[in-house]
Amino acid sequence: MKVLFEITEANLDTGLRGVPVGYCTTSFVDEQKGLFYCNYPVSEIYNWTPEEVICLLYTGKKVDHNYLHTFKQELKEKQTISPEILHHIEALPKRGHPMDLFSAALMILGMYESSKDYEKDCINIIAKLPHLVATLINSHAGWGKTVKPDPDLGYIENFNHMLSVPQVEKNKLLEVFKLFNILHLDHGGGNLSTFCGKAVASSLEHMYGSLSASMNALAGPRHGQANQEGLNFVQEVYEHLKGNISEGEVESFIRNRLQEKGIISGFGHAVLRVEDPRAIIFYEYAQKHFSHHPLVKTAFVLRKVGSKILAENPKIKDPHPNVDAISGTVLHAAGFCYPEYFTVLFGLARCVGIAIQIVYERCYARDGKGTPIIRPRYLYKKRD
Ligand code: MLT
Repeated sequence: MKVLFEITEANLDTGLRGVPVGYCTTSFVDEQKGLFYCNYPVSEIYNWTPEEVICLLYTGKKVDHNYLHTFKQELKEKQTISPEILHHIEALPKRGHPMDLFSAALMILGMYESSKDYEKDCINIIAKLPHLVATLINSHAGWGKTVKPDPDLGYIENFNHMLSVPQVEKNKLLEVFKLFNILHLDHGGGNLSTFCGKAVASSLEHMYGSLSASMNALAGPRHGQANQEGLNFVQEVYEHLKGNISEGEVESFIRNRLQEKGIISGFGHAVLRVEDPRAIIFYEYAQKHFSHHPLVKTAFVLRKVGSKILAENPKIKDPHPNVDAISGTVLHAAGFCYPEYFTVLFGLARCVGIAIQIVYERCYARDGKGTPIIRPRYLYKKRD
């Protein structure tokens, strides 16, 4: 049998970095070429509709028009959450980060709707995510009651329709929400939230509980909350330099920050060794639509200067911007100036990929037997 990876002591306590643990049938991340959904690089499909991309991940192939139509109909039939469940979601405490509500809302949905059939629950949850997320954001933000999904609208169109963001150009936001959704649907099998969801499901916990656990993993600043941190950093640089965002000023800011052992948000990735293709797509979008926005200008200077400075340190394996360096800035420039909800938007997308990956591990892996309960080995070490 082929040896895939050799474990040495140097691999211990490194977060399983690079250790192969199984198969992923939805997507993969190549360190040089970035993210692929099935066999398509994201750069080729980011202009598809969200439903087309979700269906690609769901089926593993590009489907014909009839299949896509049936798939969209199924999503529409299941898209509305009952008033009783919505009532509980709206009654959740407004304290804490909105990701706490997301995790709790998934548990509430599961209390009512879990069938313990992973495939059935997967499609049910994908269909209901826009209604669930729009409701929890509206409720947490105090933006009022959420209107019902409109059967004539598409998946993200409906989300945009239900989300009551005040004083915003809805059409502008719709395009950005679609792009954001497509680019965050999946990212290989080993990112933390996906791995956690599959690990929890390996105990035979139901789909809703497994996704709730995933969202707790996504909530951390090293993972999904990094998009909120990314915008905060861009804003901090802009405000600190009082709008004087020349390359020289930004360079001194970054060098000072590094000297103080501070963090340069939005750079580096556990797998990638090139600029994240998702970031490249967002930079192109920002250049085309929001090139005069001061934070977009700041993000562009950071892109150039940040990479240059980080590349001087031979210990840094990936000095390039990742998706979080620019995604939040684009949301902000489009009028969605609510960073505490950025990770929730990430989760709205990522639950899709995770749910589909859970179905593979529970129902299809190992000729249908499913993977056993996750149980790695730790070596005992006496404390000093
Ligand atoms: C993601 O999209 O999940 C992040 O880039 C993190 C990762 O892939 O490890």
